[in-house]
Amino acid sequence: MTEQMTLSQLYASGREGLEAAGYKRSLPPDATLGTPLLTNRAYLDSLFFIPRFLSSSAANIRSSIVGVPVEVPVFCGPMGGWNQLGETALEGCARGLKAAGSMMMLGIGGSDEMQRAIDTGVPVAKIVKPYRNTDLIFSKMEDAERRGCVAVGMDIDHFHGRLVGDAVDLEDTFAPQSEQTMRQAIASTHLPFIIKGVLGVDDARKAVELGARAVIVSNHGRAAIDCTLPSVVALPDVVAAVGSMIEVYVDTGFKTGNDIVKALALGARAVGFANSVLLAWGSGREEGVRRLVELLGAEMRRTMSALGCADCAAVRGVELRRVTT
Ligand SMILES: Cc1cc2nc3c(=O)[nH]c(=O)nc-3n(C[C@H](O)[C@H](O)[C@H](O)COP(=O)(O)O)c2cc1C
Repeated sequence: MTEQMTLSQLYASGREGLEAAGYKRSLPPDATLGTPLLTNRAYLDSLFFIPRFLSSSAANIRSSIVGVPVEVPVFCGPMGGWNQLGETALEGCARGLKAAGSMMMLGIGGSDEMQRAIDTGVPVAKIVKPYRNTDLIFSKMEDAERRGCVAVGMDIDHFHGRLVGDAVDLEDTFAPQSEQTMRQAIASTHLPFIIKGVLGVDDARKAVELGARAVIVSNHGRAAIDCTLPSVVALPDVVAAVGSMIEVYVDTGFKTGNDIVKALALGARAVGFANSVLLAWGSGREEGVRRLVELLGAEMRRTMSALGCADCAAVRGVELRRVTT
């Protein structure tokens, strides 16, 4: 046992210790980490479409994200750490997104990589971390605006550090931001401000009140607070509360074009894909990312046509029947 152990490590070493001490009775299985991810997936998979084949029509899936036109209502979620994949990885991803008419959000990372993404011509939104050193927030936002980003924002779900497994890090680097700082940050930019990490009506209403132009309903994968309401489950309430005032996007666990159609039916305007974009890059670099977005779009078009939805606006409110077995 060490002072650095997380709960899961403590339980794992406890099993070994009991076994070594000759304990014979069986122990219950470990509790699962990442319940929002599992429930998100199970919830999405429990939603079914009711086709309207006799009303089929060609579907146009073009949309816009913070006013920027996109061919598919999909954006690459902000991801730090692209440099681990080599110097040109982020640029390749940006080019793939540009070719498919999508948008790229950037997370933690420097000006150079942001500039390289912007230079590909893809619309870039910079999601700034909630730095304890608030000067950094303002300088990174200014930098993003000067270099030509189309939007800025902040992932508020890292106010209390980042969750890795069941260990928390970066608590010294990030911190909860006061309403005053948020208001000043939002007022300091001409760009639309996106608040990422909203999972409830309270934060959604506050985001509107602070001047945000959009929110992303997100569990940050499972890298923020575990056991928070899964984003797909949280989405309809957030849309009902603020959807008539600002744009509502969603991420965490989306994989397919049908997943996107379901999100649109639940009121989202666009869907973020992060890990899936990484996988697409792994599969075919720039071409893989382009192909991912095109495949998502093709599935959306086919399903929307079968639902009799001519465009994305027509999908909103389409009935999804929930079936649990
Ligand atoms: C490698 C990696 C790095 C990430 N870095 C950031 C970040 O810097 N800022 C942020 O807001 N979210 C970050 N995220 C979270 C994603 O934007 C997204 O919210 C999360 O992965 C859920 O989407 P997914 O299920 O499609 O992966 C990161 C995710 C991954 C996989």
